Amino acid sequence: MDASNRHHGMVNPTETPAWRELCALAERADLINLRRLFADNPERADQLTFTVGEFCVDVSKQLLSHDVMAALLDLANQTNLSEQLAAMQAGAAINTTEARPALHTALRSPLHESIIVNGRNVVDEVHSVRRRLSTLADDVRHGQRTGVTGQAFDTVINLGIGGSDLGPAMASQALAGYGHPRLTCRFVSNVDLADLADALSDANPATTLFIVSSKSFSTPETLANAEQARRWLQHHLGDEAVADHMVAISANRERATAFGIADENCFPVWDWVGGRFSLDSAIGLALMIAIGPEAFDQFLRGLRDVDEHLASEPIASNVPILLGLIALWNRCFLNHPTRAVLPYSHALRRFPAFLQQLEMESNGKQVRADGEPVTFPTAPVIWGEPGTNGQHSFHQFLHQGTSIVPCDLIVFARPSPNQSPELADGFDPHQLQLVANCLAQAEALAFGRSADDVAAAGIEPRLVAHRTFPGNRPSTVIFGTQLTPTSLGQLVALYEHQVVVQALIWGINPFDQWGVELGKTLATSIADDLASAEPPDPRRDPSTRNLMNRYRDWR
Ligand code: F6P
Repeated sequence: MDASNRHHGMVNPTETPAWRELCALAERADLINLRRLFADNPERADQLTFTVGEFCVDVSKQLLSHDVMAALLDLANQTNLSEQLAAMQAGAAINTTEARPALHTALRSPLHESIIVNGRNVVDEVHSVRRRLSTLADDVRHGQRTGVTGQAFDTVINLGIGGSDLGPAMASQALAGYGHPRLTCRFVSNVDLADLADALSDANPATTLFIVSSKSFSTPETLANAEQARRWLQHHLGDEAVADHMVAISANRERATAFGIADENCFPVWDWVGGRFSLDSAIGLALMIAIGPEAFDQFLRGLRDVDEHLASEPIASNVPILLGLIALWNRCFLNHPTRAVLPYSHALRRFPAFLQQLEMESNGKQVRADGEPVTFPTAPVIWGEPGTNGQHSFHQFLHQGTSIVPCDLIVFARPSPNQSPELADGFDPHQLQLVANCLAQAEALAFGRSADDVAAAGIEPRLVAHRTFPGNRPSTVIFGTQLTPTSLGQLVALYEHQVVVQALIWGINPFDQWGVELGKTLATSIADDLASAEPPDPRRDPSTRNLMNRYRDWR
């Protein structure tokens, strides 16, 4: 790939007729009223509910009039969205600032497909690495791969941060019901030693396997934790234990082997996979060990289902594209600065944290791919907690606060398998409560409760204003049958694509993260200063110097 295929068909969205039309529609947005839209069109719920994989996705409670929907679809066409997505999936160097393709979709391509990057078929490489990973995962699960004392592993600890942590940690928790009974998987990310100490508190060195997950193998937090882990192994088991008890996932094999990881224990990720898009690469090894290679294949199948949907479904019923367009309408035209993701699923409690990185690191950008400043807001703040916990915390704000927060509500009809063995195949009344609460929240947000209804219910007049709900607050319900490896894969791909859809329409590069660099560089130099006996560099700002001196006094 070279610079000649830069900015594939990218146009400035604000120069399209569709963008102008959306601006005009946004000026009259206070006329978009959900009660009226539903009353005027009895088919609305059906027309705006779409199927993708095992999910039905109901966007009928978004503030979408017929005209808004038409203009959003026009925007997708006028910004060459489909062509840009196809170019991405074919391996174009769409990550222009780093001159790389963004081929996370190749991670779930079937073996017969071929995507050539720099003269090599990346699909072949993906499958050959996955075969090695599957062998390792099976061997650990079956107790054939042992530690230095010959005992089977019972604890797997992933050391990584950001994309090398959030995805596998979220997914291992989400699919805990599929976990191997002998194995515990833990995830250590924070440079705060308390994180590693927690994970090691009851771990037996002889039966603990560490996975050092770092695409760059230069992330200070991960290296600090990996060094501690190596010391812990050496202390308890001797130097030779490192080779048996540590594996590495990295694009930098040299650094991993220089650290002391045996060459045969190094598994590659490629520079054409962004960290936050890498859960289905070797970075997912902890998940694969936990649920087994077969279930991991089902997870990949789920991702692939949505890739196929993205590539083949017409835009008007293409769910990831619609979700991207709706997010963009809420952000750029209705000006909502945040979006809440509310999984009605305890198993998905880390899903909002995973999405924070996916969306905010990808789309928290202020310039377009050509370096020109954007003239519209980009990524919203993504936040959320599982339902029903959030209802007893911040939902008050969602219903009656002065800021409007579009919400994604995710729920499943059936509980996760093996989640509650005593209820196994029986009917789970808790699940009914989850579904009921999820639907109730979406209904309350959309339709509220008018002052007239409150008064008619006999509420004393002085409380009527307090008990009135304005409603007309947008939400999407993502409803699945059950949280399984396949449906989790579908959910992840749905969000991956909706992030990229927005970025491609805006013309920003969602695959770099230069904004993280400055903090990293400054932290390194401040750490050097703090460690030295000299006073802080006088060229530093006075506030930072004061705080550094305070640290020296207090430590
Ligand atoms: O925070 C920046 C970042 O580069 C993320 O994009 C990435 O997922 C994380 O650090 C970890 O990087 P690595 O896998 O190279 O250790």
